[in-house]
Amino acid sequence: MRTILVLNAKGGSGKTTLATNIAGYFADRGDAVALADFDIQHSSLDWLAARGEDRPAIRGIDAAGQGLRVPAGVDVLVMDAPAATHAEALGSLVKRAQTIVIPVIPSPVDMRAAEHFISELMTVRVVERHEVKIATVANRAREGTQAMTGLGEYLEALKLPGGRKLPFLATLRASVNYLKAAERGLSIFEFAPAATQIDRECWTPLTRWLASSRSIP
Ligand SMILES: Nc1ncnc2c1ncn2[C@@H]1O[C@H](COP(=O)(O)OP(=O)(O)O)[C@@H](O)[C@H]1O
Ligand SMILES: [Mg+2]
Repeated sequence: MRTILVLNAKGGSGKTTLATNIAGYFADRGDAVALADFDIQHSSLDWLAARGEDRPAIRGIDAAGQGLRVPAGVDVLVMDAPAATHAEALGSLVKRAQTIVIPVIPSPVDMRAAEHFISELMTVRVVERHEVKIATVANRAREGTQAMTGLGEYLEALKLPGGRKLPFLATLRASVNYLKAAERGLSIFEFAPAATQIDRECWTPLTRWLASSRSIP
């Protein structure tokens, strides 16, 4: 089973947006997908509740309420982390994942918080031992803004323990398509192609990485 965790201690960075779109991407491809919501706000489970019966099914797991109980037969488990995940809770969440995606938005406050969070993450034992693959994604990007340039430079420069580069995979633009998708329990991959073409192109390096062995330790 592929296990993918979307993680950042900061609320509003796009964890639920990425988790639901990753789940929708794999479901649309024909994989058996489960979406585990570790947040007591249940935003991922709300998204699932809005999803039409005609769409490829995604199984919801209320991990915040009932723990992580994964049904048999799941190919891809996508985990949506809560905000403010630190210390022991961070360690135990990270241990469950082969792959971690960290969304960061181009705001000075978020970038400072991301800096602290990523340094903490680098001290988690499985990360130090390279037993988990990690990548960053810039989210809610507005092209050409100073904040975006700063975020890009910051994410490009990040290093893993031991000095290897922490891959910065994709820049997802701020787009109303994510709001439309969220409302309807869809991913941007499930709209008419023309409607979300630019956003899909932004996602390509991320989905390619997630679907390849490069994101598996
Ligand atoms: N790329 C984006 N473009 C537009 N809106 C976005 C984008 N990413 C996230 N949002 C919106 O920002 C808000 C916070 O995102 P969310 O995914 O819920 O963050 P988190 O789960 O980290 O708290 C939501 O209203 C979401 O729809
Ligand atoms: Mg969330």
